Amino acid sequence: MYVEELSQHVGQEVLIQGWLFNKRSSGKVRFVIVRDGTGWVQGVVTPAADEETFELAERLPQESSLRLWGVVRADARAPGGFELDVRRIQPIHIPKEPFPIGLKEHGVGFLMDHRHLWIRMGKQVPLLRIRDAVLWAIRDFFKRRGFVATETPILVGTSVEGTTTLFPLDYFGRQAFLSQSGQLYLEATCLALGKVYWIGPVFRAEKSKTRRHLTEFWMAEAEVAFLEHEGNLTLQEELVRHIVEAVVAERARELAQLKRDPEVLLAQVREPFARVTYAEAVEIVNAHGVEMSYGDDFGAPAEDALSAHFGRPVFVERFPAKIKPFYMKRAPDDPQVALCADLIAPEGYGEIIGGSQRVDTEEELLAQLEEYGLPREPYEWYIDLRRWGSVPHSGFGLGVERTVAWIAGTRHIRETIPFPRLLDRLYP
Ligand code: 4AD
Ligand code: MG
Repeated sequence: MYVEELSQHVGQEVLIQGWLFNKRSSGKVRFVIVRDGTGWVQGVVTPAADEETFELAERLPQESSLRLWGVVRADARAPGGFELDVRRIQPIHIPKEPFPIGLKEHGVGFLMDHRHLWIRMGKQVPLLRIRDAVLWAIRDFFKRRGFVATETPILVGTSVEGTTTLFPLDYFGRQAFLSQSGQLYLEATCLALGKVYWIGPVFRAEKSKTRRHLTEFWMAEAEVAFLEHEGNLTLQEELVRHIVEAVVAERARELAQLKRDPEVLLAQVREPFARVTYAEAVEIVNAHGVEMSYGDDFGAPAEDALSAHFGRPVFVERFPAKIKPFYMKRAPDDPQVALCADLIAPEGYGEIIGGSQRVDTEEELLAQLEEYGLPREPYEWYIDLRRWGSVPHSGFGLGVERTVAWIAGTRHIRETIPFPRLLDRLYP
C-alpha cells in the first residue's frame, strides 16, 4: 500500500513501507511521520502496540527504513487527512549516524552537496512529482495530436544555438560537441514523418550563474512540416495550456504542499496569450524603468518587466534577425527581423519557449550560414533538406525545468531536476 492510496482504506489495516521522516512524543503517545515517495503519513503509537514497536517509535533515527502496519483513520487535522493507528513497526535498516540533513534550515551549498539525500526531503518530493506530470502532459499532448516521438543525437558535429555555449569533446581525434538542441535533426525527421517531437537532455556551456540557467537541461522540441509561424504559436499556446491543466488536475496535492494556488495558474492560461513584437516589447520594458535598446537581448530584468506588464504568458515575436540563430526564416515584409517568437512565462519565470519558422530555400540558408560565419561542410546534410522536397516548416523548444519552476512556483530551476548541472557543480 502507498500513502497516496490511504483514503480508499479507512478502517482497514495496511502495510506501508517507507522511511522515518520525523517523530515526537506527547505523554504516553508517540508519533512517527513516515514517507514512502507518494506522501507522508503520521502514525500514532500507543502502549497498546507491542512493546518493541513502542520502544522503536522512540529510538529509531531519522531516515530509518521500515515496514509499518496500522489501521487507517480519517482525521481532518492530520496532514493529508489520514492517520495510522500503528500495530507494528519492523525496521529494515537503522542508520548508525545522524542523517546529515536535519529538519532545521541548511545553506544552499550544503544542500546541493547532499543533493542525493536532499531529494528525499520536504519540497523536493512534490517538485519532482510535478516534473513527472509535466513530462507526461507533454507526451500526452503530442500523442493525441498524432505526433511521432523520435530521437536526436547527443554527440554532434555542429552548433545550433551559437558557438559560444558549446561543450567540445574529442571524438576519436575529431572535434565533436554535446548537442545544444535536437532541432536540426528534427527538421530532417519532420520531412520524413510529418509531425515529430522529442524530449531529451541538451547541453549549454553557460558561463552565467543565474537561477534560470543549467548547463544540462531537458528540452521538449517539436517540428512540423507545412507549419508556418502563426500555426507554430497556436501549437505552443495549446501545449502550454494543456500542461498547466493536466498538472493541476493530477498533482493537486503536490501543488498544495508547495503552497501553489492552482487557480492562479489556471487564470494565467485561460485567456489567449499576449503577443507583442520585439520592438513593442522594448518600449514596454523601457516604460517599466528597465533600460534596453533595440537590438539588445532580453536580460532577466527585461523579461520580468514584460511578465509583470502582462500577468500572463506573452509571445515576443519578430526579433532582429542578427540576435537570433542562423536557421530562422526572415519575415517576408522585413528581412531585418526573423519569423520567430519567445514565450515569456508569467511571474518572472523567464523565457520558457524559443521557436521559429525555418529557412526553407538553399539560397537563403547558404547566405545565412555565411552571414553567421559558419562553415558549410558540417551542415551539408542540413542544406540537403532544402535541396529535395523543401517545405515551409516550423518548430520550437520548451525548457522543461523553467516550465516546472513556473508551475511549481519555485524560484530556482536547480530544484526542478534531480541532479542539476551548473557552472560550478558536477557533484553529486
Ligand atoms: O531558446 P532556445 O535556445 O531554443 C533552441 O534551442 C531552439 N533550437 C529550440 C527549437 O526551436 N527547437 O532554448 C529553448 C528553451 C528556452 O526557451 C528555455 O526555456 C530553455 O530552452 N533553455 C534553458 N533552460 C535551462 N538552462 C539553460 N541554460 C537554458 N537555455 C535555454
Ligand atoms: Mg531562446
